[in-house]
Parts: sequence; C-alpha cells; structure tokens
Amino acid sequence: MDATREYISKLREDFTKGELSEKDVTTNPFIQFEKWMKEAVESQIPEVQAMTLSTVDTEGLPNSRIVYLREYDAHQFTFYTNYNSRKSEQLSYNPYGACLFFWPDLERQIHLKGKIVKASDAVSDAYFNLRPRDSKISAWASPQSQVIDNREVLTNKIAELEETFKDKEIPRPPFWGGFHLQATYYEFWQGRKNRRHDRIAYQLSDSGVWQMMRLAP
Ligand SMILES: Cc1cc2nc3c(=O)[nH]c(=O)nc-3n(C[C@H](O)[C@H](O)[C@H](O)COP(=O)(O)O)c2cc1C
Repeated sequence: MDATREYISKLREDFTKGELSEKDVTTNPFIQFEKWMKEAVESQIPEVQAMTLSTVDTEGLPNSRIVYLREYDAHQFTFYTNYNSRKSEQLSYNPYGACLFFWPDLERQIHLKGKIVKASDAVSDAYFNLRPRDSKISAWASPQSQVIDNREVLTNKIAELEETFKDKEIPRPPFWGGFHLQATYYEFWQGRKNRRHDRIAYQLSDSGVWQMMRLAP
C-alpha cells in the first residue's frame, strides 16, 4: 500500500466537541438550523454556506455537487444556478433533492431533504443584481454542464459579452435563477467519541406537525 492509501485507511478522527440531546434541541427544526448556522458563522467555518446538493436522474441515479446556500427562511433554502444545467434538467423530471452541510470544525453535519421549486423572476432578479459584474458575465457565458471544446470557448465568449454589455447594466440571463428547497426532513448530526454519534431527525407529517426522532449512528 502506498503512503497516501495507508494514511487514508488508518486515519481515525475522534469527535469530542459536543453533544446533541433531545432536551437541548428545539421542536421546530428550522429554529435548530438557524441556531447551528449562527454557531457555524460565529466559529468562522470556512465555506460555511457550501452544501452538497443531490438530485436524481431519470434512471434513478443520483448526482451530487456543491452549491452555495444564499438565502433561507422557515420554509425554504435557496441556491442559484443555470436552469439548463444537469441539476436543473434532473429537477425538471424529479423535483426532489437533498442538501448536506459538513462543518468539520464543529463536528457537525446537517441533512435537508424536500421538494425543490424554481424561484420567482423577482427573487432571481434581486439576487442577480447583487452579484459582481464579472459573475454576471460568467452566468451569461457558461453553458453550464455542456461539453465544450476547450477553455477558449469560454474566454472568447466572455470577451464578446464584455463588449456587448460595455457601459450597460447586465440583466439576468433568462436561463439563470434560483431554486428553493422546501425541507420536509431535517437531520442534525453531532460527532461523538468512539463513533457513538448523536443524530436527531425531524420529519414533517401529513398533518403539518414535525415529528422528532433519534436515529442510531
Ligand atoms: C465551493 C463551490 C461552490 C459552488 N457554488 C455553486 C452555486 O452556487 N451554483 C452553481 O450552479 N454551481 C456551483 N458550484 C459548481 C457546482 O458544484 C457544479 O459544478 C455546477 O453547478 C454544475 O453542476 P451540474 O452539472 O450537476 O448541474 C460550486 C462549486 C463549488 C466547489
């Protein structure tokens, strides 16, 4: 076995930073999410807003990739992307997905699951207008998830768009915008010593009540 493989196979992190007990968590999982997100921000977790988004293709095969959480409230978690991308195509067939945060410094993981719906034009416009000019150009330039011949395809397109939009406001591309994940399942994971981790999950029942449960680690 080479040194890297040996290192990986023998790596044993123990988790000792916290615990999660039924008596400490809130009955509303969104409040619990807000609490953990606040603690993560205060702990200056790098890339705290990065979440792994999983979607499923028409064959039932999952795809995962990181996207940035940009807004959240009690009903939805919002990210922005290209509406012609692979993830968007998959969501058009199967509008369900999962988002996962992993914050190693806090030894915490949060798993969200639910329906994913497109944001309104007004919401997408408002966020797009906040983006730096170069990011706006990139949104126009990239046929996200498509095969391109080489990097020059992109750089040439960017140069062309810089000319087109010179001294002009850059509008949101019609093929770019937000999605909201409407969470009906939350799971909070706190690492514990000797792999005896805490997992508290919440499922939204048909009657609209959150049911809390403890899962085995
Ligand atoms: C840290 C990080 C943040 C990212 N944020 C976004 C994002 O907010 N929106 C997005 O469309 N892609 C984002 N990406 C790129 C995606 O991971 C992915 O490559 C892209 O969306 C295409 O995915 P798809 O082909 O599965 O649709 C990010 C990647 C990383 C590593």
